[in-house]
Amino acid sequence: MSRSKLKHLAIIMDGNGRWAKQRGLNRTKGHEKGAEIIRDITTYCAKQPNIETVTFYAFSTENWKRPKLEVDFLMRLLDNYLKKELVTYQENNVCFKAIGNMEALSKKLQERIKTTQEATKNNSDLTHILALNYGGRAEITRAVNELIAKGKKEILEEDISTALQTPYSDIDLLIRTSGEERISNFLLWQLSYSEFYFSQTLWPDFTVEELDNIIEDFEQRNRRFGGV
Ligand code: IPE
Ligand code: IPE
Ligand code: MG
Repeated sequence: MSRSKLKHLAIIMDGNGRWAKQRGLNRTKGHEKGAEIIRDITTYCAKQPNIETVTFYAFSTENWKRPKLEVDFLMRLLDNYLKKELVTYQENNVCFKAIGNMEALSKKLQERIKTTQEATKNNSDLTHILALNYGGRAEITRAVNELIAKGKKEILEEDISTALQTPYSDIDLLIRTSGEERISNFLLWQLSYSEFYFSQTLWPDFTVEELDNIIEDFEQRNRRFGGV
């Protein structure tokens, strides 16, 4: 039997707060360490010939419910991350994209996202997508409304797929760290036939070695897509 090929990997990075709490630190320290892991995983993915896209869940439409101090910190961290990692994207030939509702983000962060996307748009070894103020239901609803606005009377599955912000490809493998086993409104449409892997590791402790083992496990899986 041939090995399953991983083209699009998606990751729900969870457990930053618990990682910090275990060490008696503020939750923000967990987010800081977590951001460093994104860089390691992105660099690794850029070197894998099969992997075309990696999508990270960085901030959900529900995460606004967190204390303002934590939300503000996360927004600043994202801005600093993009500023600092532009060189990593360029050195590793990585194209950066953001998905989600950007309008609710600060002008400064919106500008940073725009310039990072523009600066990396011709990079071709990997597409690195950050889901920011992202919700799967919001993405589908927006796509359907766009189609209605275009005058569509009958909507096909293909229409929705291409109207989404992530028409790149379906997700082959979804990893969620920290032992939680739920989707939390991540890529609902694109996950319809994904393989799932739930890791007990808290995101700030996640490593390239663990990812390598998870991919090895994924490649052994027999994906049937409803067939036999
Ligand atoms: C994931 O870690 C990061 C974000 C959701 C931004 P959490 O902050 O959810 O960490 P836990 O789940 O509280 O440990
Ligand atoms: C999901 O994690 C969102 C991100 C990783 C950005 P949460 O920690 O917010 O999810 P729940 O609340 O445990 O479902
Ligand atoms: Mg969490």
